[in-house]
Amino acid sequence: MVSFRAGPSVFRDQGKLSFDYLPEKMVHREKQIQRMFSLLRPIVEASASSNAFLYGPVGTGKTHSAKRFCLDFRKYAGDHDRALDFYLVNCRQRMGDDAVLLALVRHFDPHFPDRGFSVAEKLETLRRHLEKYKLHFIVILDEVDALLKKSGADLIYAFARIAEETTAAKGNISMILISQRPNALEYMDPAALSTFRRTSVIEFPRYDREELHDIVGDRVDLAMHRGTVGTEIVGMIADLAAEFGDARYGIELLEKAGMLADEEASDEVTPEHVRGAKAHVHPTHVEERLAQLDVPKKLVLLAIARRIRKKAHITMGEAEESYELVCEEFREKPRAHTQLWKYVRELDALGLIDTKLSGEGVVGKTTLISLPEIPAKILCDNIERGLKKR
Ligand SMILES: Nc1ncnc2c1ncn2[C@@H]1O[C@H](COP(=O)(O)OP(=O)(O)O)[C@@H](O)[C@H]1O
Ligand SMILES: [Mg+2]
Repeated sequence: MVSFRAGPSVFRDQGKLSFDYLPEKMVHREKQIQRMFSLLRPIVEASASSNAFLYGPVGTGKTHSAKRFCLDFRKYAGDHDRALDFYLVNCRQRMGDDAVLLALVRHFDPHFPDRGFSVAEKLETLRRHLEKYKLHFIVILDEVDALLKKSGADLIYAFARIAEETTAAKGNISMILISQRPNALEYMDPAALSTFRRTSVIEFPRYDREELHDIVGDRVDLAMHRGTVGTEIVGMIADLAAEFGDARYGIELLEKAGMLADEEASDEVTPEHVRGAKAHVHPTHVEERLAQLDVPKKLVLLAIARRIRKKAHITMGEAEESYELVCEEFREKPRAHTQLWKYVRELDALGLIDTKLSGEGVVGKTTLISLPEIPAKILCDNIERGLKKR
């Protein structure tokens, strides 16, 4: 039996960082959710069927906004004495009409056999379930382009037909389609397309840095112990995730950084943990990237990496101080200020460091240097090894 070291953890509730945790509130998606409400509200108010199409890049909250909306909308409908239910099918995981329909039928009848019934029979079964409960059923077809590519728009058209022919007393169907591609619906023929008017389209743009800051900050409050993750750390994660505008990536970085902090029994998450997390989530080939640098540039990078160890960023002045010491240690003549500047810009262009001008708060404007990808410790070890071998 191994004995575990069950010391304190930076996590209060790590499950809140899991991909299947549905937030109570989707931060900065009020507009999109309000639009869904405007589009689908005829379901409750006029017993009419209505549809929406959501699109946007990965990690922009499409799936979770649709789920969050439907959960809250089901309650809203209940308060207005309307029976409403929904089910989300990921069309990439359940390829084709048959598999999608089976998932929907099983939502009502978990024991429905997976063989022996045609698509038409399954549709009829589904329709009978809705009739029995006088239910309005919202079908969410997530990653719908996978379905359209495999089976065409037959199923969507079939749902639209049910919606047209049915009467409220018999239950009804509405659809929310989701895709990463704005033009996903172009796979549909005009008959099916006509159920998705241009007005029913909702865009989910990439999140900007500020939005990601709020989303990650929200998760910190939910998942982490107080005082273990400073705003500086949230800012660092927001900076990294802003490159893709992807909330999932930001949340993954937070979780991984927390795990690295726990591994070291650190009582807080440090910038170095975030860099380590970044290296884990997107493994980089450190040696290959450093091999392209000549000795003078390696010295500059080493100077920055040494100085930055426990910080999010350093100033140009601090980098210069550290550079003098490094040159002394490796018996190299330090280059002049302007030359140093050139190296810093080149390292920036190579993506090994990041530079930006300090904003308000710092006396006079100065250049701030950060390490976007590779943890300082890994950089130091690698460069030192290379320089000593000369
Ligand atoms: N606005 C937001 N507020 C809180 N969490 C969010 C937000 N947007 C995305 N997330 C989280 O990011 C992850 C990815 O979201 P998801 O809805 O799966 O994105 P998409 O379907 O667009 O790829 C999920 O864990 C989700 O909870
Ligand atoms: Mg999704």
